[in-house]
Amino acid sequence: MGVKEIFETMDYGTAPEGAGDALAWITDQGARFGHFIDGSFTKPGETFETTNPATGEVLAEITQGSESDVEKAVAAARKAQGPWEKLGGPGRARHLYAIARLLQKHSRLFAVLESLDNGKPIRESRDIDIPLAQRHFYHHAGCAQLMEDTMQGRVAHGVCGQVVPWNFPLLMLSWKIAPALAMGNTVVLKPAEWTSLTALLFADICRQAGLPKGVVNIVTGDGVTGAALVSAEVDKVAFTGSTEVGRKIREATAGSGKALTLELGGKSPYIVFDDADLDSAVEGLVDAIWFNGGQVCCAGSRLLVQESIAERFHQKLRARMDKLRVGDPLDKSIDVGAIVHPEQLSRIRALVDGAEGDVYRADAPVPEGCFYPPTLISDLAPASPLMQEEIFGPVLVSTTFRTPTEAVELANNTRYGLAASVWSENINVALDIAPQLVSGVVWINGTNMFDAAAPFGGMRESGFGREGGPEGLMAYTKPAGSAKALKRIKPFEGDAVEPQAVDRTAKLYIGGKQTRPDGGYAQVVYDAKGRVLGQAPIANRKDVRNAVEAARAAKGWAGATAHTRAQVLYYLGENLSARSDELAQRLNAMTGGKSGAKEVETAISRLFDAAAWADKFAGEARAVPMRGLAMALREPTGVIGALLPDEVPLLGMISVMAPALAMGNRLVLVASEPFPLIAQEMTQLLETSDIPAGAVNLLTGPHEDLAKTLADHADVDSVWSFSGADLSAGIERRAAGNLKRSWVNYGKSRDWFGPEAGARAFLDAATEIKTVWVPYGA
Ligand code: NAI
Repeated sequence: MGVKEIFETMDYGTAPEGAGDALAWITDQGARFGHFIDGSFTKPGETFETTNPATGEVLAEITQGSESDVEKAVAAARKAQGPWEKLGGPGRARHLYAIARLLQKHSRLFAVLESLDNGKPIRESRDIDIPLAQRHFYHHAGCAQLMEDTMQGRVAHGVCGQVVPWNFPLLMLSWKIAPALAMGNTVVLKPAEWTSLTALLFADICRQAGLPKGVVNIVTGDGVTGAALVSAEVDKVAFTGSTEVGRKIREATAGSGKALTLELGGKSPYIVFDDADLDSAVEGLVDAIWFNGGQVCCAGSRLLVQESIAERFHQKLRARMDKLRVGDPLDKSIDVGAIVHPEQLSRIRALVDGAEGDVYRADAPVPEGCFYPPTLISDLAPASPLMQEEIFGPVLVSTTFRTPTEAVELANNTRYGLAASVWSENINVALDIAPQLVSGVVWINGTNMFDAAAPFGGMRESGFGREGGPEGLMAYTKPAGSAKALKRIKPFEGDAVEPQAVDRTAKLYIGGKQTRPDGGYAQVVYDAKGRVLGQAPIANRKDVRNAVEAARAAKGWAGATAHTRAQVLYYLGENLSARSDELAQRLNAMTGGKSGAKEVETAISRLFDAAAWADKFAGEARAVPMRGLAMALREPTGVIGALLPDEVPLLGMISVMAPALAMGNRLVLVASEPFPLIAQEMTQLLETSDIPAGAVNLLTGPHEDLAKTLADHADVDSVWSFSGADLSAGIERRAAGNLKRSWVNYGKSRDWFGPEAGARAFLDAATEIKTVWVPYGA
């Protein structure tokens, strides 16, 4: 093109970034990589090729990690962990700081290597991925420095197995490694098989930074290596990737006691109201869906636009799409680079080729090879597969809505809950919509904002756990101290009496009413001397379902103000106190013990404790580097099913119930298995309290059966087990179905009278974090 033509078209010229240094680094390493274990690179083993998706050229050979490689890496991490933790927060902070400095020093090398291996535009790797990775290490150097102050009573998990995807190779590595190291863990990380190079360069940086051997280990390989790492002797597994693999990992770790966080897929809504600044919203959309070619878990891939402006908005959008430049990732004027791998390209093609609706492909040149044009598919029905499935490519789907209510319904009509964007110049509209979205992150008049100080993570099948902020640190720590094995308590026996048909006294408490168990059976309950104490109904699957339905319907409780919830809990405490002597005697009769009075007294203080917390656990603003607010807000988890402990029937029930209620959850509680009659006492208390019908439902019956139904139920958001029965593995495996949250005891005891059963210990599990970003500026 001549100068005259350039002036006429005002087209950009190319501005290629040199790949020389990055390619030289690969060559210097021999272009064949082993793993990084115990502070040095191993000899390459059986290898596979990693290619530049933009050109198809082979960049290097990467070792396929075997089970024994994983074991060696885990052993190195294990050996290094004690000394690393003992180094103390400030000692670890220096190492993290040194890594951050070196990442900064070599940032261009990292950026080019990332773009070569992944195909993302250099503009993105240079201005987003690598700076954010540095910021993560700087921020977490600070977290290590302050750990003794801010994380009192918490210690490292130990060795963490971490598996990351290919879309943000170095950034995801940083999200995983920085907080883990800060809190005193050591790690074995497996990068994605298509993009291992920056993880290997990072290993080199760890060496240069003088990080003690074995603190960071990198084992390369595919999903088989990943699965081996998940099954290895690690204490915590952290995964980012597809929901399908996340589910497999939940199943594989079920019952193992390994802590688990999962950052999975999404189909995030991008909601544009008629009063939005349309040009900004179009520009935001470019960032939402064409950033990294749409290969972003929180991509704003589902456009919901108000009907009255839909045509105008689509017109502007198509015009903007036509201007996007697709091509060489190393060209600084490129907007959309290569798709990460031909396999991913075929997945995208297959999904779009079967599309209903109106398919618009950007009218812009697209190079041959692993590239895909920016695409918009409009007029899709909400239930259409493309509206529901993650495409993970530069493909936007769109539909329209008329009212804010409809926008919220459409936005939430998905199995995912990762992120959402809301565009409106009316702050009332935006802030009204944000809390109604089932989504871990909400961006108002913006998109794809991330920071190390702000938690990121999903609801529903987008996974659980948060990365970033104090919540991210919590996920890399556990309470100090070790728990003893839990002994199961058997119910007292009496004269052999078969389970009886229910007489008039034994009832369940569902939806605010005493109801007969569906099966019509009850068990006779005896005291320590074998005398009949009463009868407890035996709930079955149907009763669980009714209880869940009642809990779902009691939405009002979640909407009640924290002040109101506190008042209701105080009142329950007062009522309990009025009956304390009688209840203490009854407890002694049930358990054959003498701690009834202490149990009642502690239960009353737990209610007061939870009431006190109700309006003090709402979340807080986070100091992110922008003009605006990032608010990490606490929301109730939803419907929680809990199997209560055997040993302290009243205290167990109140300790679990009170904080969960304080946070606005609705509950299905299964009373102590050996001492179920507590449910009848509790029913009377609840009936004279102000807790709305359905907010607490009480069941009695065999924990094992009821746990299965709760863990399988799609409308239960979280299942907790403190039961003496061995339920942990079963619950975690079943919870994988819809990736509901679970919190189980792995057969370990808890001191129900001590602080570890105090309200604070339950608040995190009873809430989900939603990070709402509100940038501002005139
Ligand atoms: P993937 O979930 O299979 O891969 C992510 C990581 O998990 C890789 O390091 C892989 O080696 C590892 N892995 C695979 N199987 C494993 C197993 N059984 N146990 C442990 N680790 C395992 O994602 P993939 O196949 O690369 O992409 C498939 C689809 O997943 C994409 O089209 C996209 O829709 C979605 N995806 C979502 C991501 C997100 O951040 N939400 C990231 C990557 C992919």
